Amino acid sequence: MTEAVLLVGGRGTRLQPLTLNTPKPMVPAAGVPFLAHQLARAKAAGVDHVVLATSYLAEVFEPYFGDGSAHGLRLTYVTEDEPLGTGGAIRSAAGALAAGPGEPVLVFNGDILTGLDIPGLLGSHRRAGADVTLHLTRVADPRAFGLVPTAADGRVLAFTEKPQHPDEIVTDQINAGAYVFRREVIDAIPTGRPVSVERETFPGLLASGALLHGVVDTAYWLDLGRPASFVQASADLVRGVVRSPAVPGEPGEYLVLPGARVEDGALLGGGTVVGAGAHVAAGADVEGSVVLEGARIEEGARIRASMVGAGARVGPRTVLDGVVIGDHAEIGADNELCDGARIWCGTTIPDAAIRFSAA
Ligand code: GDD
Ligand code: MG
Repeated sequence: MTEAVLLVGGRGTRLQPLTLNTPKPMVPAAGVPFLAHQLARAKAAGVDHVVLATSYLAEVFEPYFGDGSAHGLRLTYVTEDEPLGTGGAIRSAAGALAAGPGEPVLVFNGDILTGLDIPGLLGSHRRAGADVTLHLTRVADPRAFGLVPTAADGRVLAFTEKPQHPDEIVTDQINAGAYVFRREVIDAIPTGRPVSVERETFPGLLASGALLHGVVDTAYWLDLGRPASFVQASADLVRGVVRSPAVPGEPGEYLVLPGARVEDGALLGGGTVVGAGAHVAAGADVEGSVVLEGARIEEGARIRASMVGAGARVGPRTVLDGVVIGDHAEIGADNELCDGARIWCGTTIPDAAIRFSAA
């Protein structure tokens, strides 16, 4: 049996307002909650039991995913009353694991889209005889991540979470948020208090001489923590740049879910998804965006790299570029919003009230 713990208890602060009523893993990407893609990819890699470590808005997962049988695996839910951090969450999931001493347990951050070769990571862990094996990736700007320099043989030399000082930036290799833990390492995490694997467990293991093994690859990798990357991930899933068996359709330039209405003369592209019950009017142009269920995009609106929340309305000729529109917000005609603007759920913006024109 191959088991995995999926960490899905974070507050998703950087994706607000879309995560005010929906935890980040339940926000739809390419037509289904993002978590469905992770479960499908885990199943395809041979994982048959997943423990969901929930905390924030924990109650919404089980009604959707149930016992997992509809997704071809067994799901167990473990909920922290108070968030216990990444390490505390892994520790509290331990009681639901069947893995015995010495056996590997996969652990995944719940907000990563990656083409990681999961069986390859497990094989590498076995060959190295490691206590923990970490998937690493290279990024241009590592400051927002866990920095993980390694020796030539893959041995992890240090783990520095979100370095504060330029001197600490010694590598472009970062923790990609997928691990293999030896079962005993999980059982040794303290209970009853918050623990961060990144700030406490990994540095502590290194100090005690444990073997942490890093596997660097060049597979597709994206952290969906920010709106721009969430939208990008959804578009890449729709276009098949990264494959997920959970995408409800064949790869293409857009995905229109059953029950959506796209009028003749509307333009969709760049991996746009139009949710169930949403309406895109003639003359609207929606590129590389996520339009959630029941949203309305009116005539001549031009939308790029944006998320339009459930039931929201984007008025005629309004232009959105890199914007998040909260659920049920109403944006009047002839507005222009760009560059990370966020409109809170239920807000109304009158006609021609906002105009950011490019210089
Ligand atoms: N159950 C539970 N309880 N889950 C939690 C908690 C908690 O208290 N805190 C965080 N999580 C989950 C989040 O839902 C997410 O799936 C994962 O743990 C990581 O938390 P984030 O808040 O997304 O962390 P990050 O993105 O700033 O940094 C992490 O990911 C980077 C890669 O994207 C770290 O692991 C970095 O080292 C890493 O580079
Ligand atoms: Mg994250």
